[in-house]
Amino acid sequence: MQPIRLTLSFVLCLLLTAAFTASEEEGRALYDHHCARCHGTDGARGLFGAKNLQKSQLSDSAILLQISNGRRIMPAFRKRITPDQMTAIANYIKSFRTSYMTSRKTNPMFTFPHIIMIATAVTTALISGLFYAWSCSVIPGLAKVSDSTYLEAMQQMNRAILNPVFFLSFMGTVFLLPLCTYLQYGPVLSARFWLLLLASLIYLGGTFGVTMFGNVPLNNMLDAVQLSGATSADLATMRIKFEQPWIYLHTIRTIANVIALILVVIACLSPSPVAEPIAYLHRS
Ligand code: HEC
Repeated sequence: MQPIRLTLSFVLCLLLTAAFTASEEEGRALYDHHCARCHGTDGARGLFGAKNLQKSQLSDSAILLQISNGRRIMPAFRKRITPDQMTAIANYIKSFRTSYMTSRKTNPMFTFPHIIMIATAVTTALISGLFYAWSCSVIPGLAKVSDSTYLEAMQQMNRAILNPVFFLSFMGTVFLLPLCTYLQYGPVLSARFWLLLLASLIYLGGTFGVTMFGNVPLNNMLDAVQLSGATSADLATMRIKFEQPWIYLHTIRTIANVIALILVVIACLSPSPVAEPIAYLHRS
């Protein structure tokens, strides 16, 4: 019983493969015969303004309609080609799209989206490096100094950091990450797009948001304090109100930033521009 079943399924597989290959072969032959003189064997010839089929994004039904009715210079084929044959041709011409995607994959690296991606990776890395350095040098170092030294140092550093070089990475990432994500947006959403979208959300919420609505209000509170003339009890209270909450928020924004950076690095390494060109074939 078992061997018979196995043999049967094997034969069925063979038949299915043969049928599939046949319809693909049939599609190719019909296309070469009826369509290639205007569209070219690769779909990109463009004679008489024939649309480039590698770039075409028509749905299955729109392709069938186009073949059946024709359009402007393109003749109607409904009298010459059966519906089954049209389907075979439609499936065949959609395979051009995959080759378009694959050829784009091997194209030169320095397009506008690539340059934006490099800039995004650099600013994301710079700002997470800044927060990381703060976590492992400034915070533990200042933990050991007196209240007045601590508060004065934090006050001065918070004032000093508001400079263009800092904003380049901190604010640059706010604009570059969403821009970079947008540039990866297309008819087929790639892994790269989703990674960058996730990185943008994490950076905007976990790093930018936490800084603006967490650390900055604390910094402003500290900035308003007149340190000279304050009693040591005042200084101690102020430090308690400031130091631990600030470190807590700082740790959150640093971890968020590093996660965003990891996602950006993976996005840079992931295939472009379309992770699964096959998805294209199954769209309708
Ligand atoms: C005489 C030249 C010619 C022949 C032969 C021809 N086409 Fe076209 N095709 C054109 C032109 C011109 C257009 C653009 C029509 C328009 O302005 O929309 C076009 C457009 C198309 C489009 C629409 C693409 C898009 O994205 O809008 C499809 C699909 C297409 N052709 C498929 C075929 C197929 C399949 C065959 C063979 C069965 C075929 N064509 C034969 C000239 C031709």
